[in-house]
Amino acid sequence: MHIDPLEKKWVYVALGIVGLLTSIITIDALFHNINAPSNVETIDSASAHLSKEFAEDNLGVQTEKDGTLTVRMIAGRYGFFPRHIAVPADTPITFRWVSIDVIHGVHVPMTNLSTMILPGYVAQVTTTFPKPGEYPMLCNEYCGMGHDHMWSNLSVVAKEHWSAPTSNPATGGTSK
Ligand code: CUA
Repeated sequence: MHIDPLEKKWVYVALGIVGLLTSIITIDALFHNINAPSNVETIDSASAHLSKEFAEDNLGVQTEKDGTLTVRMIAGRYGFFPRHIAVPADTPITFRWVSIDVIHGVHVPMTNLSTMILPGYVAQVTTTFPKPGEYPMLCNEYCGMGHDHMWSNLSVVAKEHWSAPTSNPATGGTSK
């Protein structure tokens, strides 16, 4: 088969570019420790709601022993539970979600909060909300007939108006 030398050159150039981009992505991922957003922490989805961490009483906003805030939520057809949470603005908040059934996605419009929630994994995201306001927390992965109605409410409260939830002796932290 005859290949024009000029065409051959361009094939090498194209392959070279592909190789260069692939190595940049690989090296960058290795150096910056980029992982799947699920932070690769596994959990048994079928019994997640019975687990210590994601039992009903532990859901919602909690102040950890070191003073940081963690929000634990369960995603299931069709809602994020608890249905409403309030968090302070300008404060780093770590969200932890588990799905008790299928793949869901969680997305808060106008913020950078967006991740998939895969059954069997804990999806964890740490973010800060600069602007107080009422936000919807939507599901953005098709999960069934009720997908369109799968959403919860997130209130971002000005820091000075937010008070930590009351103490919960069962967890050593606090919960709401
Ligand atoms: Cu959950 Cu779509």
